[in-house]
Amino acid sequence: MRYISSSRMKAIDTNCAYLGMSPLQLMENAGAAIAQSVKERLGSGKVLFVAGRGNNGGDAFVAARHLAGTPGYIVRVILLGKDRDIGTEEALHNFSLLRFSRVQTLEIRDSSQLTASEWFSEADLLVDAIFGTGVKGKIREPESTAIDLINKEGKAGKTVIAVDIPSGLDPDGGEFEKTVDADLTVTFHRMKAGLLTEQAKEHTGTVKVTEIGVCADAEHYVGPGDLQMLQKRKPEAHKGKAGRILVIGGGPYSGAPALAALAALKAGADLVTAAVPESVSRIVASYSPDLIVRKLSSNILCPEDLSILPDLINSHDVVVMGMGLGRATETLEAVRKVLPFCRKVVLDADALSALSGTLFETLAGNCEIIVTPHAGEFARLRNMETPEIHEAREKAVREFSEEKGVITLLKGKIDIISDGKQTLLNRTGNPGMTVGGTGDVLAGITGSLFSRNPAFLAAVCAAFINGAAGDLAFEKAGNALLATDVLEKIPEIIKEAGI
Ligand code: APR
Repeated sequence: MRYISSSRMKAIDTNCAYLGMSPLQLMENAGAAIAQSVKERLGSGKVLFVAGRGNNGGDAFVAARHLAGTPGYIVRVILLGKDRDIGTEEALHNFSLLRFSRVQTLEIRDSSQLTASEWFSEADLLVDAIFGTGVKGKIREPESTAIDLINKEGKAGKTVIAVDIPSGLDPDGGEFEKTVDADLTVTFHRMKAGLLTEQAKEHTGTVKVTEIGVCADAEHYVGPGDLQMLQKRKPEAHKGKAGRILVIGGGPYSGAPALAALAALKAGADLVTAAVPESVSRIVASYSPDLIVRKLSSNILCPEDLSILPDLINSHDVVVMGMGLGRATETLEAVRKVLPFCRKVVLDADALSALSGTLFETLAGNCEIIVTPHAGEFARLRNMETPEIHEAREKAVREFSEEKGVITLLKGKIDIISDGKQTLLNRTGNPGMTVGGTGDVLAGITGSLFSRNPAFLAAVCAAFINGAAGDLAFEKAGNALLATDVLEKIPEIIKEAGI
């Protein structure tokens, strides 16, 4: 069965907002679905909503309003807290509408008020909206008592409906210290992994997955919600914790490795070393004092460089290789020899030309690989034309990634990123970005994120950030934008994402 993690669901919610769908709309649809489920279980009578202070409670406020508008129901809401404690704008908005909705409300501060309330015993059906996916740590009061009181009524034969997940249940692992015993769980958009576990099954009752009008693109295209899943910088972190990146590039070109290295820094890496052939090392160093530059032996990368590269690779978290290397036979041979020393690598540009035969298969298991080809490079990698039609392209990327055990980020008007199982698309970016160097910037961002995040997440977020930075640059420069303009805009996107 298809299911998603709670963090991905949160990302989809945020992506919906980015696409223009307000969180209020989603809450309205979720609440309407709950009201509908109540009606299916109870034709008329007293319904008690027990609501927490988060968005799970917000869904209940909407449901209560919908239900109160239907003849035959007496609708009551217990809020576990005071209105000023409500944690989200949307939940507060919907709570305040209850004043005008013929819904009786009770705001309680402590568990004694709960046990004293007769609303539990008077209810014909109870709706549990104490926590959804936002539950964390040990369950405090008055929530713990509220769970007990709901369960007591459930044991007495009353129907209990849980909103999204039974309160207390971990949405991903299905563990719980204490949880609501529901007859029906109405979960939104997709099945949550935690609901499928054996221990959870005894408490969820029937699980109904309900669509709440999520825009399909919020799930299939990368958005700011995905960026929220990236690791945040920890205040106590020391130097190097945010990633050490080794860029191996240059020789015939000097700008490409510099762009990748600077992009890695701007995307948050702590230390970036550019290992470049001697012939260009001074030029690369002259671009910025922020870069550490290590000289390779000759005027191109060659097998002799294996004398220093393995140690350098060991002292870095991620290798980003290929930008401006050229395709001399010795260089491609050196790339192939370097790869077995890598544990995490981003392969771009000329390094992709070295990937012939069964190299991927040899590396599989020892090294996590992200490849970032454009259509031409992807065609060479597969020995096959890259399809023009989007669906066929997506299929090709997915199949290639699965077969080779790599993550592929195929650059294009719409970037396609796949690990063989999941595929996401990215549409940030603009026609100005066909200028040389933007791919080098992307490779650098990818390496930077990869050093502190899972590979697939790093690749999708890098595609988004690179395109979003390009879009900011485009506002000023239009089609005359340069890769260095994109570079300058990366920090704005990183800052806004709070990573
Ligand atoms: N003890 C007491 N209160 C807690 C605990 C705990 N252990 N853990 C979390 N809370 C409180 C938080 O302080 C917050 O007020 O629960 C509330 C958050 O719970 P949720 O409503 O589950 O979280 P939120 O992220 O706001 O909403 C997620 O919204 O999209 C809907 O129903 C859907 O499950 C989803 C929910």
